Amino acid sequence: MSGLRKRRAAVLISGRGSNMLSLIEAAEAPDYPAEIVAVISNRADAAGLSRAAAAGIATAALDHRAFPDRPSFDAELDRLLRAHGAEIVVLAGFLRILTDGFVRAWEGRMINIHPSLLPAYKGLHTHERALADGATQHGCTVHHVVAELDSGPIIAQAAVPVLPGDTPETLGRRVLAEEHRLFPAALADLARTLPGAEPAS
Ligand code: GRF
Repeated sequence: MSGLRKRRAAVLISGRGSNMLSLIEAAEAPDYPAEIVAVISNRADAAGLSRAAAAGIATAALDHRAFPDRPSFDAELDRLLRAHGAEIVVLAGFLRILTDGFVRAWEGRMINIHPSLLPAYKGLHTHERALADGATQHGCTVHHVVAELDSGPIIAQAAVPVLPGDTPETLGRRVLAEEHRLFPAALADLARTLPGAEPAS
C-alpha cells in the first residue's frame, strides 16, 4: 500500500518473547500499519532479546537493579523509547510495575496483553485460577495501560473453551495461540487510529 506511514512501536519484554515475535512477524507485512523499532528488556538474559536481534530488530537491556528507584529506571526507559522515536509502547510480558508519571506520559499509546478475560483474573497465575474456579471459558485481553494493574480500557479480547482434563499448561497453550493472533491485530487497530505523531513530554 503506498502512502502508509507505519507508526513506530517499541516492545518491552522480560522473558521468552513469543508475543513479541508474533508482533515482529506481523509487522513484516508491507501493509501492516506499525513497525517494531526496538525491543527493550529489563533482564539482559531474556530469551526474547536474542530472538529480536535475530530478526534484525534493535535491542536494549535496561537492568532495573542498576537504578536506585522506580522513577530513575522509568526516566531512562522513557529516554530510550524517545531516542528510538517510539510512538507506541507495547508491553509483551514485561514484568515491571511502571510509575504513574511514566504511564501518564504514554497514556493512549501503551498497551498490554494479559492472559485472562479481564476483568476476571487480574494479576498472576490466571490459568491456575480459572481452572480452580471451574471456569468454562478463559482467554486473553489487550488493553490500554493505566496506573492500576490490568485495569485499562479493553481494546480486544479472545475467548477459548476450558476443556475437560485441562491443566494450566494445556489451557495456557490454547490461550497463548490466541494471544499471538489477537495482539498483532490490536496493535494494528491502535496504529491506524493513533492521533498525532508524538507522545506527550
Ligand atoms: C503472556 O502469557 C502474556 O499474556 C503475559 O506474559 C506472557 C508473556 O509470554 N503478559 P511471552 O514472553 O510473550 O512468550
